[in-house]
Amino acid sequence: MSIKAIAFDAYGTIFDVFSIGALAEDLFPGRGEALAAAWRVKQIDYTRLRTLSDRYEPFSKVTRDALTFAARSLGLALDEAGAEALMTAYDHLAVFPDSAVALRRLRALGLPLAILSNGDPPMLRAVVDQAGLGGVFDHLLSVDAAGRFKTAPEAYALGPKAFGCAASDILFVSSNGWDACGAAWYGYRSFWINRTGAPLEALDIVPAGIGDSMHDVIDFVTRALDG
Ligand code: LAC
Repeated sequence: MSIKAIAFDAYGTIFDVFSIGALAEDLFPGRGEALAAAWRVKQIDYTRLRTLSDRYEPFSKVTRDALTFAARSLGLALDEAGAEALMTAYDHLAVFPDSAVALRRLRALGLPLAILSNGDPPMLRAVVDQAGLGGVFDHLLSVDAAGRFKTAPEAYALGPKAFGCAASDILFVSSNGWDACGAAWYGYRSFWINRTGAPLEALDIVPAGIGDSMHDVIDFVTRALDG
């Protein structure tokens, strides 16, 4: 079984969503980490709620709404300027160092690469360009084109459509266990980068590959191409 292309999740996989923690900490000393964590959990929660209820809104709105809720849930007085600063930081997320190295190595293997993300097109363009990764990807695929967030099949369908090959020939890489499982359910070969030592999802499916950094993805792909 070969690999003809690779699609990556963006947030948490290539870009470190917790890199906004420092700004959050400046705004709310002692609570920055908690705010970043609550924000991320609610952001994903809202993508699912909106998809289940057929109430799609772009990820930037979902992210902004999740921030409002996260601040509320922690009893933090977040004003408009603070919220704007945190949202702007979302366009300037740090790239995980292993991701920057691995993306260029995988590209050198001649494989077409894409991002397949819940992020809306302007968010993805901004975060990719500021990281200097503009030339690395053949496609920036946003679920916005499907009007449904992952793990809806319509969202994962964007990968095979863009690459022009079967999902089973595409490796889908995510640091979110639920996303790696959702992609595998759809039919991708999937790889879970377990950056945080999280437990394996109990979802009657297991990603084809599991590792703890993007370096393990290079090993997995190299073995698949050799085999
Ligand atoms: C994304 C979120 C799920 O980039 O991390 O799609």
